[in-house]
Amino acid sequence: MLEALANPLLEGLHEQRIPEPCCIVIFGASGDLTRRKLIPALYSLAADHLLPSHLAILGCGRTDQTTEQFREDMKGGCEKFARAAFKQDVWDDFVQGLYYMPGNFDDDASFAALKTQVLEIEGKHGLPGNRLFYLAIPPSQFPIVGRGLASGGLTYKCEPNQPFSRLIIEKPFGRDLESARSLNRVLREGWEEEQIYRIDHYLGKETVQNIMAFRFGNAIFEPLWNNNYVDHVEITVAESIGTGGRGGYYETSGALRDMVQNHIFQLLTMTAMEPPISTTADAIRDEKVKVLQALRPLSPQEVPANTVRGQYVAGAVDGEDAPGYQEEGGVAPGSATETFVALKVLIDNWRWAGVPFYIRTGKRLPKRVSEISIVFRKVPHLLFKGAQIEPNVLAIRIQPDEGIVLKVGSKVPGAAMKINPVLMEFRYGTSFGAEPPEAYERLLLDSLLGDSTLFTRSDEVEASWRWINRVLEAWQQGAPPDPYPSGTWGPASADDLLHRDGRHWRHL
Ligand code: BG6
Repeated sequence: MLEALANPLLEGLHEQRIPEPCCIVIFGASGDLTRRKLIPALYSLAADHLLPSHLAILGCGRTDQTTEQFREDMKGGCEKFARAAFKQDVWDDFVQGLYYMPGNFDDDASFAALKTQVLEIEGKHGLPGNRLFYLAIPPSQFPIVGRGLASGGLTYKCEPNQPFSRLIIEKPFGRDLESARSLNRVLREGWEEEQIYRIDHYLGKETVQNIMAFRFGNAIFEPLWNNNYVDHVEITVAESIGTGGRGGYYETSGALRDMVQNHIFQLLTMTAMEPPISTTADAIRDEKVKVLQALRPLSPQEVPANTVRGQYVAGAVDGEDAPGYQEEGGVAPGSATETFVALKVLIDNWRWAGVPFYIRTGKRLPKRVSEISIVFRKVPHLLFKGAQIEPNVLAIRIQPDEGIVLKVGSKVPGAAMKINPVLMEFRYGTSFGAEPPEAYERLLLDSLLGDSTLFTRSDEVEASWRWINRVLEAWQQGAPPDPYPSGTWGPASADDLLHRDGRHWRHL
């Protein structure tokens, strides 16, 4: 077992600056994300003394409720979902800055009323005008609110000695290349690129950030991190849940848009990118964009042989009966939406030429597990006759049981030269004695601090859609998804994708 040196995990956060006083305005405040993730994340940051001394949070939503009702609801959310334990004194302090404003936020009058409200709150809390706007609303409303804020005089230009105005946008950022471009265009009418924070919550996960620390903070892995030593890379993001009551949304999305275009391509770029020249946001994002630009585009003829799409039918997960996708609420009968995707992706650059990246993600798979596995080449010469030597594998476990495992071959004790795989393991839980902070804590803190490293840049989003678009277009003309029973690892065609190359998915 590799043991971490004594630092508690939160030390990384404590080393940071404390953000300047600010007013956070959350659109979509009566929605699930605000109650389950955003307010609990802000509460946990408050409990860890990572928020500025002066801070106010204004929730905006369509639900007609008072500030008192909103506070009560958010208290329940913090008690249930916050990483930090609920403490009455922390809450009593935190709640002083929590407000609610009902409205549609779709016309000049509502943004004028919002401005009045924000100015009043800023006056009351002695805030200097710094504002962070969080859009946790349906994507169709992103342009309306983005524009309304800028034209309603709620923002400041991005200039020295001016208060900051920042805009956080939830996914999905577009549903294809054209809509992503158009959203970028609309937002840029009122906002500078450096004011726009496109969230991908996978980048807030400690294990995802650790890919960089692991690759570029150790001397022993990077020399092997290329096509001389790596046979292939597997990225699995498996979920055991179904649509989770979001059938209506999922019908407009599917697994390729919901998971691959954003989260999985982030994992891919972090794994495949070149060392950045520095740790500035742009230096890192420049390298990630290059990986996306180097993805070999699939022609319509190549799509069937390099992609698999599946849809779950009734089965059982964890011994419990599970319905088929088409029986879920909000799903159209005969729907051709994919709930599973497997892809073979090639990166046409010097480092990765000829190394396939196999990706799979799906709902209602046997368990929840996300892992990136670097599978190394076999030894060049088999010295031990008759021995079955398995290739070395470096597995980066994103969740659960966050950590890194290296599989090596070792002699089995005894007279014979028998070699078995053994594991060298690092686990966050045991090595640091603390659970990693929630992704949203890190992302909210970074956006308050003005650090956009863990947010996606416009060219990054467009480069990723450019690759995905070709697959979406070919699928529209192609066969419907292959069925797979809930509780299995997807359709048989996903196994064939690797078998054709003489490989198989790792058993997770
Ligand atoms: C979201 C997707 O972005 O990520 C969901 O819309 C998915 O469909 C979720 O379940 C997975 O996130 P996590 O953090 O649970 O792996």
